[in-house]
Amino acid sequence: MSRIKYFLMPILLFSLNVFAGEMPLKILQPSGKQAYQNGWASFVIKAEPKIVKELKIEVGGQGYPIELKEEKDIYCKSVPLSLGINMITVKASDKNGTGYEQKSELYFTSPVHKEFKYPPMEFADFSFHTKEQEKFCQECHNMVSNEKKGVAFEDVTQSNCYGCHKQITSEKFGHAPAVNWLCTSCHNHEPDGRYIKADSKYPVIKEINKQCYLCHEKKRKLWLKKKYQHEPMDVGRCNKCHNPHASSYEKFLRKPEWELCTSCHLDKIEGKHVISSFRKNDHPTHNVKDPSRPGKNMSCISCHNPHASDSRSMLDAEGTNAIKLCSKCHKK
Ligand code: HEC
Ligand code: HEC
Ligand code: HEC
Ligand code: HEC
Ligand code: HEC
Ligand code: HEC
Ligand code: HEC
Ligand code: HEC
Repeated sequence: MSRIKYFLMPILLFSLNVFAGEMPLKILQPSGKQAYQNGWASFVIKAEPKIVKELKIEVGGQGYPIELKEEKDIYCKSVPLSLGINMITVKASDKNGTGYEQKSELYFTSPVHKEFKYPPMEFADFSFHTKEQEKFCQECHNMVSNEKKGVAFEDVTQSNCYGCHKQITSEKFGHAPAVNWLCTSCHNHEPDGRYIKADSKYPVIKEINKQCYLCHEKKRKLWLKKKYQHEPMDVGRCNKCHNPHASSYEKFLRKPEWELCTSCHLDKIEGKHVISSFRKNDHPTHNVKDPSRPGKNMSCISCHNPHASDSRSMLDAEGTNAIKLCSKCHKK
């Protein structure tokens, strides 16, 4: 068996060489058909400097030109993804204007967009940080973590992770451990953990709440002693609602409050809720001012605690009394 493999090797190498001679362009990373949980994908492209005179990446109707340098053959660039399927084209042309193209198809998933929750079968989850894959990058990038446990970087650009991952904290509201580049406070191997991306140097733990509670211990004490816990929290997926790194919404929510809740509770979009059974009009759940939260509009969390409560239906009121809830906003 192994003898056959060795025998085939030179033929394989030879045929790859021929291919490289014809196509002066190759996508080294990503390997294609991968599923992403973040809105950025890093491309590493090999372009033959003697031939390629122009180079760009196209995604979602947008072009990202790459500046070429003499004799340089490796180019790296992160591009933004849209939810769902992204067809990405790397385009090059030579001095005669002849074009060359390589394509890569990637999928961007989201736990709170029903239609993008699960990628189609052909898109696989993947781990980038394995020994083999890091080997090539090592020539130019420092692949070792220089993080001191619990000590924020004074200058985050000094983190060895920053150069390749800077986009991950670029959104307006950033989570403290991420914006301080304490990445391994969440991405590390615990002795008894079960992981997504288990073969990565920087895995993601399945029951992420364990990791959240390491720092949010007070919340754990507060929420777990309540009678009722919201199901997605109870199963440990804080990251269903919160982006662990950063987001353009307060508290790094994945969507604005009302949209977040209604992405799972579709039946509440119509607003048939609270008092609809005995009145012609529905109780407003959005688009009007919330008297109990100055400066904010009504939303689901005007009446519900998103995490836990002593009241049935997780009402945001002392005790278990719905009438007490009404009096938060309706005096008399
Ligand atoms: C030949 C040297 C070289 C190799 C090999 C290399 N890189 Fe890079 N990479 C660079 C340089 C130089 C930059 C900075 C580019 C700049 O700032 O314009 C960079 C930047 C990046 C960026 C940031 C791009 C952006 O748009 O923010 C990513 C991501 C990246 N590299 C990933 C990788 C990965 C993954 C590998 C291994 C598969 C790799 N690189 C291998 C030289 C290299
Ligand atoms: C040479 C560039 C490079 C450097 C340096 C780098 N990463 Fe990555 N990392 C990547 C790429 C490429 C991916 C795949 C996802 C993507 O395209 O952004 C990735 C993925 C990840 C993932 C998802 C799990 C996985 O293995 O796919 C985590 C977590 C991560 N990186 C953390 C880190 C941390 C922490 C550091 C610093 C110690 C770091 N990275 C340094 C390029 C880099
Ligand atoms: C508070 C915990 C936490 C911190 C801190 C954190 N991460 Fe993550 N990270 C996660 C979780 C959870 C996921 C799984 C995907 C998700 O929930 O969005 C993830 C996923 C990722 C991914 C994979 C995204 C993909 O496309 O599949 C990358 C890359 C990553 N993290 C890089 C980093 C880097 C770099 C840092 C430091 C700046 C960092 N993370 C800090 C919790 C964290
Ligand atoms: C390494 C410590 C650490 C870990 C792990 C951690 N956090 Fe945090 N988190 C902080 C710090 C520090 C703050 C900012 C201070 C504060 O408001 O508590 C913060 C703030 C927050 C806030 C905003 C609080 C506010 O009132 O504005 C949210 C939401 C949050 N974290 C959610 C999470 C989630 C979800 C996880 C798990 C995926 C997590 N955190 C894991 C340290 C951590
Ligand atoms: C169903 C969605 C959802 C889940 C799941 C969820 N959160 Fe939240 N979280 C929210 C919303 C919405 C807010 C904003 C509340 C507000 O502004 O009053 C919030 C606020 C927070 C805050 C800051 C405000 C506060 O209440 O102290 C922290 C810290 C936090 N969440 C941590 C977590 C942790 C840790 C988990 C997992 C154990 C988790 N969250 C799971 C939706 C969620
Ligand atoms: C990721 C999906 C998801 C998101 C996002 C979500 N929920 Fe839920 N919620 C559930 C599930 C699952 C249940 C339990 C099954 C059920 O009753 O539908 C539940 C139950 C509830 C209940 C009923 C609890 C009971 O005791 O009967 C309330 C109230 C609730 N959610 C409010 C909210 C609010 C408010 C938000 C926004 C902050 C929200 N949910 C966001 C999945 C979600
Ligand atoms: C004005 C206060 C108020 C607002 C705003 C509100 N709710 Fe409720 N919600 C209630 C009350 C009161 C109950 C309890 C009804 C009962 O037990 O019969 C309830 C019950 C629920 C339940 C459990 C029973 C059921 O009907 O399925 C869910 C789930 C729920 N709400 C989700 C939401 C979501 C999602 C939003 C935002 C779109 C929202 N609520 C906005 C007051 C409110
Ligand atoms: C977080 C604040 C808040 C809570 C809690 C609340 N409401 Fe309201 N309610 C409002 C607002 C805002 C309006 C709209 C007032 C307006 O249109 O000017 C409203 C309107 C109403 C109306 C009039 C609806 C219409 O036809 O215009 C009724 C009846 C009502 N609420 C009953 C209740 C009951 C019963 C409860 C407790 C189960 C409750 N509300 C809890 C904020 C709240």
